[in-house]
Amino acid sequence: MNPLLSRLQPYPFERLRQLFADVQPNAACRPISLGIGEPRHPTPAFIKESLAASLAGLASYPATAGVPALREACAGWLQRRYGIAADPATQVLPVNGSREALFSFAQTVIDPTGDPVVVCPDPFYQIYEGAALLAGAQPYYVATEPQRNFAVDWDSVPPEVWSRTQLIYVCSPGNPTGAVVPLDEWRRLFELSDRHGFVIASDECYSEIYFSGQAPLGGLEAAAQLGRTDFRNLVMFTSLSKRSNVPGMRSGFVAGDAALLKQFLLYRTYHGSAMSPVVQQASIAAWNDEQHVVANRAQYQEKFARVLPLLQPVLDVRLPDAGFYLWAGVDGSDTAFARELLAQYNVTVLPGSYLARDASRSGAPYNPGSGRVRMALVAETAECMEAAQRIVQFVQSRAN
Ligand SMILES: Cc1ncc(COP(=O)(O)O)c(C=O)c1O
Repeated sequence: MNPLLSRLQPYPFERLRQLFADVQPNAACRPISLGIGEPRHPTPAFIKESLAASLAGLASYPATAGVPALREACAGWLQRRYGIAADPATQVLPVNGSREALFSFAQTVIDPTGDPVVVCPDPFYQIYEGAALLAGAQPYYVATEPQRNFAVDWDSVPPEVWSRTQLIYVCSPGNPTGAVVPLDEWRRLFELSDRHGFVIASDECYSEIYFSGQAPLGGLEAAAQLGRTDFRNLVMFTSLSKRSNVPGMRSGFVAGDAALLKQFLLYRTYHGSAMSPVVQQASIAAWNDEQHVVANRAQYQEKFARVLPLLQPVLDVRLPDAGFYLWAGVDGSDTAFARELLAQYNVTVLPGSYLARDASRSGAPYNPGSGRVRMALVAETAECMEAAQRIVQFVQSRAN
């Protein structure tokens, strides 16, 4: 067996199952889960219709690069959303959701012979760690700082770590923090990338769910604003899963540095990760439509506007820049909070410490997710409000 498999950590939801194994949820309340970050708004009818109308595509093998019309639809969306000109022939590639792409990109980029490091934010989307480990690299976790809107403290990375770094993952908007990386932070990251030669993977799958009038800055958009129109050493990852409520369709794309995407296409050809022709057609329809995205965003905005005022008096929680999570500070242990909440009110939340690894602060190890829980507001507004009301009662009863 591949010995690297034994380095993988249990996925947070596996740890959650173990945490709850001996908990008896209060049967008087119907179960509500805020645990899993899976979009639950309905899939737009026109996407389902496009899938149904494209079934003839089942009769042919797809090319790994996708049909030109799909790459053009992706490039068109990049132009409209970020005002950037990406060449659909060389700077755009369809992927089967961003998860597999975030994973396989590390397998493409990492040279395991060089004692490589992959730098990840902490807390982080768990795929980064598995991707780094299976590529033969050492993950290095950099804490997010609550007092700086959960920005990642990139300057805390020692030079000897940067000099071994081959890849960094940036998550903007962040999961679980919801923080968007501003232009100054991108400038710093590009400087570091130029100095140390590492590649930046920018995970942007929550970019269309935001709460202010200002759409989140994208990595390629930041690069273009700073005059880096070749997107050197930068690839962004995006997805229809959250934007268009199609997590089961498995559709996204990557865009950026043409030289990196050429190698990524080569890797993917052997890996066998071409997108189904049926999904390609539905994806073209989805990327070309913005009306459903505006309506979806409005639904999240309304939900957050109704849930937050309930929770804010009892928890350390605020409106994120973007995404569909609340990243709430709780009193004491996050795992004890999650267990007691399930037992007493049948509401599931994810302990923040399960999404993070030990980082170091003034030389002392600490887990930047501990003392926080992640709540995914993916259900309909009424269900999220009911969960919030139960959480309020729970916190108040704990305090007494
Ligand atoms: C930060 C982040 N990146 C990527 C993904 C993967 O999404 P998908 O593979 O559906 O595009 C997720 C899914 O929850 C996520 O939270």
